[in-house]
Amino acid sequence: MRILKIIKFITTITFISLTLSQISEASEAILKELAKEARTADIKFVQFSASTGEKLFRTERIHSNGEKISCMTCHTADPKKEGLTRANKVIKPMAASINPNRFTDMEKVQKWFKRNCNDVQERICTPQEKGDFVKYMMSIK
Ligand code: HEC
Repeated sequence: MRILKIIKFITTITFISLTLSQISEASEAILKELAKEARTADIKFVQFSASTGEKLFRTERIHSNGEKISCMTCHTADPKKEGLTRANKVIKPMAASINPNRFTDMEKVQKWFKRNCNDVQERICTPQEKGDFVKYMMSIK
């Protein structure tokens, strides 16, 4: 029955687009939450910047242990590609366009910012830095 196939097709498409829009709502909500944090930390906070976020992602520094490190060390220079941990475990792409599950769970986002900012910068990231980074990852087409 052709009509049944068409109905099934439309239902599937609707389901997929609803799911995708829920996911992007979740990451928008996380950006809002980070903006609240940023405003609390700095009354001069204006907005997040994807290009500043890209700079954070690409800045290499020498860690106090003598090793060169950046976010790219594990996430690679291309956020659309898979990365690798030091133990050679695969890290899924960071770009939200490729991996829509990124930046949808605030607890996960905060946990990894804490860990990775400490790893790379030897300090935690500011709310501004976190928001810039997420905005960059959400802006990649
Ligand atoms: C030593 C390896 C390593 C480095 C360096 C690293 N990361 Fe990560 N990052 C990981 C791993 C492992 C995960 C968790 C696995 C996953 O989410 O796929 C992760 C996940 C994240 C997440 C969670 C995203 C989500 O799914 O919500 C954020 C945010 C993040 N990293 C930010 C950064 C930033 C910012 C830097 C640079 C300052 C950085 N990472 C550098 C290994 C690294």
